Amino acid sequence: MFKPKITELAWDDVIVDVNGSCEFLRCLNTLSPIDKLDQATMDYIFWARNHIGVRTFVARSHNYIVGTASIFIEQKYIHGGGMLGHIEDVAVLPECQGCGIGYSLVEECLRVANEAKCYRVILDCSKEVQPFYEKLGFYSHSIGMRLELRGEK
Ligand SMILES: CC(C)(COP(=O)(O)OP(=O)(O)OC[C@H]1O[C@@H](n2cnc3c(N)ncnc32)[C@H](O)[C@@H]1OP(=O)(O)O)[C@@H](O)C(=O)NCCC(=O)NCCS
Repeated sequence: MFKPKITELAWDDVIVDVNGSCEFLRCLNTLSPIDKLDQATMDYIFWARNHIGVRTFVARSHNYIVGTASIFIEQKYIHGGGMLGHIEDVAVLPECQGCGIGYSLVEECLRVANEAKCYRVILDCSKEVQPFYEKLGFYSHSIGMRLELRGEK
């Protein structure tokens, strides 16, 4: 299995070029269509996410960003004040899928969760990608619920 280079998202990675595109956003577009964001908005989002402790990782192949995943660690009042990890926004460029990149990104998030002594890590996913997470040891539990507040689907 290919072992990509995984690093924490850096400010350089959120620089939007003159055409309004950004390799990192191209990866996220795999997950959900991304509107073009200007540099000031990208800078603010980068700062705001770091400020609340979201950690975003990127995988590189030949110096290009080919995948990303994020983890947010929440301290609970329940579970003896323990830490719960939330994995979000795991995405690999379509042309780079099936080479172990997604696996390495989630492994990196799990490393961070273990380091923070999380008692559990949770995520939401579709039925289509359930087998991917099962290979990493996740199992299906509960049901996901949502309420759209701004007419999104
Ligand atoms: C899901 C996704 C992140 C997986 O990334 P990837 O780099 O293609 O996955 P990997 O190559 O690391 O796969 C690891 C293992 O999971 C398996 N796998 C990956 N996607 C799978 C799928 N959809 N169904 C079944 N197995 C899958 C691979 O075959 C591999 O198995 P192996 O170790 O036996 O060879 C990627 O397909 C993707 O970005 N999909 C679109 C966005 C998305 O749905 N993200 C999930 C949000 S919750």
